[in-house]
Amino acid sequence: MKALVLAGGRGTRLRPLTNTSAKQLFPVANKPVLFYGLEAIRDAGITEVGIIVGDTGAEVRRVVGDGAEFGLRITYIQQEAPLGLAHCVLIARDFLGDDDFVMYLGDNFLIGGIQELVAAFEQGHYDAQILLTPVDDPRSYGVAQLGRSGEIVGLEEKPEVPESDLAIVGVYMFTPAVHDAVRAISPSARGELEITDAVQWLIDSGHHVHSHLITGYWKDTGRVEDMLECNRIVLESIETQVHGTVDDRTQITGRVVIEAGAVVEASVLRGPIVVGADTKIVGSYLGPFTSIGGGCTVEDAEIEYSIVMNASTVRGVSRIEASLIGKGVEVTPAPSTPRTHQLVIGDHSTVRLRS
Ligand code: G1P
Repeated sequence: MKALVLAGGRGTRLRPLTNTSAKQLFPVANKPVLFYGLEAIRDAGITEVGIIVGDTGAEVRRVVGDGAEFGLRITYIQQEAPLGLAHCVLIARDFLGDDDFVMYLGDNFLIGGIQELVAAFEQGHYDAQILLTPVDDPRSYGVAQLGRSGEIVGLEEKPEVPESDLAIVGVYMFTPAVHDAVRAISPSARGELEITDAVQWLIDSGHHVHSHLITGYWKDTGRVEDMLECNRIVLESIETQVHGTVDDRTQITGRVVIEAGAVVEASVLRGPIVVGADTKIVGSYLGPFTSIGGGCTVEDAEIEYSIVMNASTVRGVSRIEASLIGKGVEVTPAPSTPRTHQLVIGDHSTVRLRS
């Protein structure tokens, strides 16, 4: 069994951060989303992994490397344009050979791993297996309609009027039968070869596609609120570890991870919180479910329920909440008169000011 991990795509819903960085590398509790997937693959006993990369391929290669660190052997496959998930299978044909494989979307976050799912697929001798989970608004996902005995009646990609609330999770298991499917389908209205259509093709041509309803936590981290929620979920289960220095004027309640080289002075930290390596927190308040990356400075500031990526500075500003702050960002007050906001912000940014 091999794995095909998808780490291309444009990540338009997370612009402008995705203009310069791969969304699959965005940190959840200071660890790239993609790493959680790679670890789940490894824990399921799979070692041969192909990673599809797009425009941000250089960064993914640099951060993930050859896989040795994860106990994996990684082959990178370049996708020239984001032409769809089924297109990824098409271009990975040589890598996949005639093996069964797990296809794992690199921005998907699944608690509980995939070990049991892989075992169920292998024991069931299905031609393909998809995972489903109920969601509040299925319109931004692939949606499955099931029959009385749980068989898949139909699948639809991002339907305006969904037939059910069952979203297709971005972890699929395939036998080589899928290769005929991805060759047979045509691009969808959004111009992509949809994996949902390939799975529907398998069903229509008499293959046994098994659906498995998952009960554990799953998120597609495609939007800011999803990133923040994943961060919350992971921080819920951290254990306190203090490798940096915390002075005696600092008050800590709840669980916190203070990475090596970090310095916390005269601050209030209400966990769960992760503070990255070599970061300075001075005279500040950090509230629950906050991850501050490495090499940051937070001074005379308040931050809660937010993610701040590496090498950013937040100084002299009060309560930043539900925010996703990129790398090398500077957030500081404007001069007090005139009462203006001074902004230097990239294209497609979202800024919500209080007044
Ligand atoms: C893709 C699939 C969709 C699936 C989703 C899961 O959507 O096309 O069927 O439900 O992943 O994350 P995309 O993220 O490409 O919009």
